Amino acid sequence: MLFKLKDGREIPVELYKTRVVQKINLIPARARLKAIEEAGYNTFQLKTRDVFLDMLTDSGVNAMSDNQWAGWITTDDAYAGSMTFYEFADAVKEVLGYNYVMNVHQGRAAEHLLSKVFCKPEGVVITNYHFTTTRAHIEVTGISECLELYTDEALNTKSTHPFKGNMDIDKLKAAIKKYGREKIGYVRMEATTNLLGGQPFSMENFKEVRKVCDENGLLLVLDGSLISENAYFIWKREKGYENKTIAQIIKEMCSIPDIFYLSGRKNTCVRGGFIATNNKELFAKLEPWLPVYEGFYTYGGMSMREIGAMAVGLKEMVDPSVAGCAIEQIKYFVEKLDSLGIPVVTPPGGLACHIDARKFVPHIKKEEYISGALTAALYIVSGVRAMERGTISMDRAKDGTELYADLELTRIAIPRRVYSISHIEYIIERLQWLYEHRDLIKGLKFIFEPPVLRFFLGKLAAIDNWGEKLTIAFEKDFGTDW
Ligand code: F0G
Repeated sequence: MLFKLKDGREIPVELYKTRVVQKINLIPARARLKAIEEAGYNTFQLKTRDVFLDMLTDSGVNAMSDNQWAGWITTDDAYAGSMTFYEFADAVKEVLGYNYVMNVHQGRAAEHLLSKVFCKPEGVVITNYHFTTTRAHIEVTGISECLELYTDEALNTKSTHPFKGNMDIDKLKAAIKKYGREKIGYVRMEATTNLLGGQPFSMENFKEVRKVCDENGLLLVLDGSLISENAYFIWKREKGYENKTIAQIIKEMCSIPDIFYLSGRKNTCVRGGFIATNNKELFAKLEPWLPVYEGFYTYGGMSMREIGAMAVGLKEMVDPSVAGCAIEQIKYFVEKLDSLGIPVVTPPGGLACHIDARKFVPHIKKEEYISGALTAALYIVSGVRAMERGTISMDRAKDGTELYADLELTRIAIPRRVYSISHIEYIIERLQWLYEHRDLIKGLKFIFEPPVLRFFLGKLAAIDNWGEKLTIAFEKDFGTDW
């Protein structure tokens, strides 16, 4: 709930109370420098004992509700035919409107099955924008590529456009002409488009995509991992939806694609995922592969406890205070940084506050991993673990040349119901200091580079030992305890 203060500022007031807590520690800058050096300047490689605020991701780190814990405990453990699965399937029907559903162990497992079954030889999958795991699964089929048809506004980091996740309809029509519909495995729309900075698409755009798919006999898939946030933005930003409920908007969104999938680790606040549809034939194409890669039909690689908690999480994610809880904190975070002149992606999106690293450290060359360097620097000066979402998160082309990311972002994710405004204020202070000392940040170079999804395991080093120089400057201002 947004609460207006006398001075005109809006602050998020949480509609929940915290009843279980976990202690966290802030180790001093010198220890953080050692930790990030050992981690190869890759925040994925840090250990949580060295992390103060873990904002790497909003995935799998959200706070479950009391009712989800109740759902977790009161489950029916069975390899086959568990009633918990059928209760979950009822929740999918109630909230999303789908008759057929299969669980998978997480979102990328859904992407694996979809790519395996629907990618076409010498073909393409068309999307508003790729996600790392989506692209990897399309490409590892060895037969298809991922084609992104975003609008011009999508890459404008300083924008007021409400729906930067839209697909460009003219480009879609042109791509269908160019490739021919028989080469297009499917068209994929990603809700609250992650790598564009958590930017939503509009219902209007989604319906236009559907229309073009219908005219050309193409399969339309919705990645709904962040569907609640997209629905929340439609409610807040799209004309004609202001008087609808989030539940109605989600149902309407789900009535559009042929196939829906999600990573449950985000909106439903529990590990797992699923694929759902109302098309029996499509479901039958996917079904045989489920027990091969995931598990039996009534658990699909998830534990019954997770499925029980997910059923509750699904029903709760349509509550505006749940769908909007991270969005309102992000809005506060982004607007404050923007007012301080720190380059941040606007308008505020879902999932995270995204720093525009190209503008923050314009002196770093694109070959030297701009957002990787900024993300490591933020950790050194704050203990905040963010995520590089730039060129390191892209894998090289088949011939080994570097594929430079469209955007170089440092993503400071906001897990749902976990952190408070005082934590965000702390980060803002540290980011301000870092911005004033940005010249001290230099680039990175790879010392170990895996071939696929290199951002997970890759190790890098600081060019000119800049981490040391940044730490000395920080200690000079704040002492050796912080
Ligand atoms: N689709 C989207 C839009 C995602 O954001 C993610 C994961 C996936 C699919 C894959 O799901 O992790 O359950 O296998 N996003 C996480 C993140 C990893 O940090 O943004 P998964």
